[in-house]
Amino acid sequence: MSKYTATLIDNETGEKIELDILHPTQGPRAIDVTRLYRQTGILTYDPGFMSTASCWSDITYLDGEEGLLEYRGYPIQELAEQGSYMETCYLLLNGELPNAEQLEEFSGQIVHHTMLHEQIKRFYSGFRRDAHPMATMVGVVGALSAFYHEYMDIHDEKNRYETAILLIAKMPTIAAWSYRYANGVPFMYPDNKLGYAENFLHMMFALPSEEYTVDPLMARALEVILITHADHEQNASTSTVRLAGSSEVNPFAAISAGIASLWGPAHGGANEAVVRMLMEIRDSGKPLEYFVDKAKDKSNKFRLMGFGHRVYKNYDPRAKILRELCHKIIDKSPLASEHKVLLDIAMELEGVALEDEYFISRKLYPNVDFYSGIILLSMGIPMNMFTVMFAMARTVGWVAHWHEMMGDDKTRIARPRQLYTGKTHRDYVLVDMR
Ligand code: CMC
Repeated sequence: MSKYTATLIDNETGEKIELDILHPTQGPRAIDVTRLYRQTGILTYDPGFMSTASCWSDITYLDGEEGLLEYRGYPIQELAEQGSYMETCYLLLNGELPNAEQLEEFSGQIVHHTMLHEQIKRFYSGFRRDAHPMATMVGVVGALSAFYHEYMDIHDEKNRYETAILLIAKMPTIAAWSYRYANGVPFMYPDNKLGYAENFLHMMFALPSEEYTVDPLMARALEVILITHADHEQNASTSTVRLAGSSEVNPFAAISAGIASLWGPAHGGANEAVVRMLMEIRDSGKPLEYFVDKAKDKSNKFRLMGFGHRVYKNYDPRAKILRELCHKIIDKSPLASEHKVLLDIAMELEGVALEDEYFISRKLYPNVDFYSGIILLSMGIPMNMFTVMFAMARTVGWVAHWHEMMGDDKTRIARPRQLYTGKTHRDYVLVDMR
């Protein structure tokens, strides 16, 4: 029983209901309404979960007002500056940073599972060449559930941890092969001498016929992208994984559902949409103010992509890290002058929006997607692969949440209710009588 309670008074009936107030270690308190319906027959209504905490979680904390993001207590800036993606994965899954020996063992486990079953290759050829790589990812990751089903025990902690390793290990191969298939170039097998980010770049860009050396600056840039996108508490795709997982489905199917949810332009698809928007601004010859005004116009669906966030009401800390990284790598881009134009437009757009009353009053700041696309372009990653990169990075977050949820005795099948607005009872009428 919680020490504090809130009293809800039903003004229709005069009934008073005591509800516990829950206290997390950080962040807003919550009123526990779990038993409300059983006790009173009243539901709570919160479309889009604006005021709803759906679970307890130890993994990631973010404070939207302060613009703070921590994985297991470690600030994102410190992890991005000094850490590696493998350390971040270990941290998210295990709760602590690994020592040197643990890190070596963990990285070894990942490396051991980078290959895909040879039959998985055939799934790719079932897709049209012009299929969006996110569609291919949804299909191929979902298909993995057929390869890992019979022997999987999702109630066994060790088994779940091994599944997490499989998913993290295979995702770069799946992602890179989506690109290779679309371009009609042979699949490159993983080279397990390479680190995680390097291996992905190798599978994306190497050709069997030529020497390919991974540029260390590009590999480091990718590490930062991976670290900054690794987890973000209960966002739409993570909640989708938890929701799908709550029915005790095969985890590969649950992650495939998460990838589908990430794809939308309001979520992970925004990184692609940002670059398309910057290109549109560049090609239009119109001033930035025209686009800012269009974003403010409620009769127009256009929004400034890469701006605004459900939780951040301050500068997204990930956007700050990625803005700096943009400046560091842009000169390395084979199309540096072209990409610099996009970066200049982005910086100018940010400046105009942050001075504008509409954006100030609604606390709309650049989010993680605002600068990540320019970094990916500079690395030679094509636009339709941007959200795939996000999915690859976020896989560890998804499996960490799935693992946590499956081990939590408070987990129930996620089954929201509704407020019915349809027709009330009426009798069936035979077709020739209608
Ligand atoms: N451009 C113009 N107006 C905006 C924008 C924007 N990018 N974002 C929010 N608003 C306005 C919105 O019209 C609303 O105005 P009003 O109060 O007058 O009706 C107000 O700000 C609040 O917006 P909301 O849509 O109620 O907020 P939300 O929390 O439901 O949506 C969001 C958050 C991220 C979907 C939204 O800000 C958005 O569509 N941004 C553009 C897409 C984007 O960058 N998405 C990436 C999100 S971060 C990465 C990730 O999660 O994957």
